[in-house]
Amino acid sequence: MNWLLVPLFSGLFLSARSVGISPRVLILNMFSDEANVWYNIPEFNVLAQNISVPGLSPLFPEVHCTKNGSICQLTTGEGEINAASTVAALLHSSAFDLRTTYFLIAGIAGVNPKVATIGSVTFARYAVQVGLQFEIDAREIPANFPTGYFPQGTTAPGQYPIHLYGTEVFEMNENLRQLAFRIAKTAEPQLNDTTDCRAARAPYSAAPQFAAAGGSPSVVLCDTATSDTFWSGTLLAETFENTTKLFTNQSAEYCTTQQEDSATLNALLRGALTKTVDFSRIIVMRSASDFDRPPPGESAVASLLGPTPAFVPSISNLHIAGVKIVQAIVSGWKDFEGGIKATNYVGDIFGSLGGQPDFGPGSMFGGKAAKV
Ligand SMILES: *[C@@H]1O[C@H](CO)[C@@H](O)[C@H](O)[C@H]1NC(C)=O
Ligand SMILES: *[C@@H]1O[C@H](CO)[C@@H](O)[C@H](O)[C@H]1NC(C)=O
Ligand SMILES: *[C@@H]1O[C@H](CO)[C@@H](O)[C@H](O)[C@H]1NC(C)=O
Ligand SMILES: *[C@@H]1O[C@H](CO)[C@@H](O)[C@H](O)[C@H]1NC(C)=O
Ligand SMILES: *[C@@H]1O[C@H](CO)[C@@H](O)[C@H](O)[C@H]1NC(C)=O
Repeated sequence: MNWLLVPLFSGLFLSARSVGISPRVLILNMFSDEANVWYNIPEFNVLAQNISVPGLSPLFPEVHCTKNGSICQLTTGEGEINAASTVAALLHSSAFDLRTTYFLIAGIAGVNPKVATIGSVTFARYAVQVGLQFEIDAREIPANFPTGYFPQGTTAPGQYPIHLYGTEVFEMNENLRQLAFRIAKTAEPQLNDTTDCRAARAPYSAAPQFAAAGGSPSVVLCDTATSDTFWSGTLLAETFENTTKLFTNQSAEYCTTQQEDSATLNALLRGALTKTVDFSRIIVMRSASDFDRPPPGESAVASLLGPTPAFVPSISNLHIAGVKIVQAIVSGWKDFEGGIKATNYVGDIFGSLGGQPDFGPGSMFGGKAAKV
């Protein structure tokens, strides 16, 4: 080859393959407090490079990365629309090559006191979009409806949805989840807790059905529910617990409540369809900042508007548990580079990435990957 052509050819090669930063881990937070725990920390400096990407939230217009690009952090903005828009914009940016990147969703959430307590750090296999339903106000429901929510296309609560949009359920790589859980467990003794948090747990743990709400913060395997509406109270919690079970054919455990994960996951799924990202490299970590319902004897509105002593500890615990996972992936890259093979179904309710979902009506693509 003529030596003069070499730079030309390598330039062509690189532009076809993308010259972008290829982080080993990308941390996704939803708002400033969740992001701040990753800045000015002893372990690494994600403020060494700030990369502007068109289409990000105007509040958080930059992706932050370490000098060598192995760890990046992005704040999506809150709610489903911000999360989906930000992640979709990132995936279309030529500044990044995310094909082998592990995504660590790291945010706070409400928590079901039947399953876990405030301050705990959870890892989800299923994310369920519980707000995607018909709704009539509870004061106008038929006498035989336990809730005003019922799935689209159905005639009453408890019936499997007929009109699916495709974002109702996402299932993550269970082997990766178990690995992340085991790594995070090593940080369990360091999880932050305070006397105010312990006091807030006491009225729950006195009730036998909320025994799990007592005790110290721990690392827990349980699933997550998404809705733009910030719901609270016993009846809505039971409604969405039922929805979570129904949509996943009884597989998911309703545990954390948040406003973004299904949206983030749908944007990542679209990216996976074009091999821009690997959907089996996603970790959904949510720490518990508040309970999703009051303890016995308290009103729903008092619980929603009352103090949230676990807000700061739950934010700290995202870093305390999550940093172990980031470090394990970055420093153990030879074990992660090729992916952690999934042995469960991974993807959406349509079966878009191939395979047969273990929930819902079955693949819309005959078990094969959708052609895009
Ligand atoms: C890149 O930087 C991170 C921390 O900033 C470090 O842990 C890692 O070993 C460095 N090298 C590679 C190849 O990731
Ligand atoms: C990146 O942005 C942060 C503020 O968001 C700033 O503190 C830091 O100095 C910036 N880094 C560089 C390399 O400019
Ligand atoms: C939790 O964090 C607070 C505030 O930083 C600190 O005062 C307290 O000692 C920490 N508690 C534990 C158990 O680490
Ligand atoms: C949840 O489902 C159970 C079992 O079908 C039912 O008894 C209960 O009324 C439902 N609760 C709500 C709030 O929909
Ligand atoms: C899930 O439940 C629905 C409603 O009962 C059923 O139609 C569907 O076949 C079930 N899916 C799987 C994978 O079991």
